[in-house]
Amino acid sequence: MKAALTLLLAAWAACPALVLADEAASAPEPRFSSGWRFEQRSGPALYGALCAACHMPDGRGARGAGAYPALQGNPRLAAAPYALHMVLNGHRAMPGFGRQLSDDQVAAVLSHVRERFGGMPPEAARVTPAESAEVRKGQQASPAVAH
Ligand code: HEC
Repeated sequence: MKAALTLLLAAWAACPALVLADEAASAPEPRFSSGWRFEQRSGPALYGALCAACHMPDGRGARGAGAYPALQGNPRLAAAPYALHMVLNGHRAMPGFGRQLSDDQVAAVLSHVRERFGGMPPEAARVTPAESAEVRKGQQASPAVAH
């Protein structure tokens, strides 16, 4: 029992970034009732659950069966509407998450990604749920940055 607790504490201590970067950590995590939505609410938790598999936990992306662009240092993150469009609607091999995520969640994960990987100060990196709702409304619009 004691060993298990020590292990748990060690694992917790090993991920200070998760704790520090999560401004919502102190708020209780409300749970969604429907099973097909993602329950995570904080940016770091959402990134880990939804984005890291393709873009890698450190945001450096990957090349293999497909090309997953690096988010680390990616200048396109500066364009919030473009990043919002990618997360909501997807593009080619990038899946859209608009149906699974609330605007709060989209804003949380993108604020986190822009601050952590886009090198922006927290205030500048912040994306609001209202901005997400705006882009959601105009889903037919083409992305601000062409590929
Ligand atoms: C299944 C793999 C996969 C997942 C999961 C995924 N992405 Fe992507 N992502 C991609 C691919 C592939 C692209 C390149 C798409 C293209 O060709 O335009 C991309 C592109 C992007 C871009 C645009 C980068 C650029 O240089 O244009 C952003 C921003 C982005 N993803 C953010 C996210 C975020 C945030 C999440 C989690 C909510 C996420 N992605 C989850 C595969 C993924």
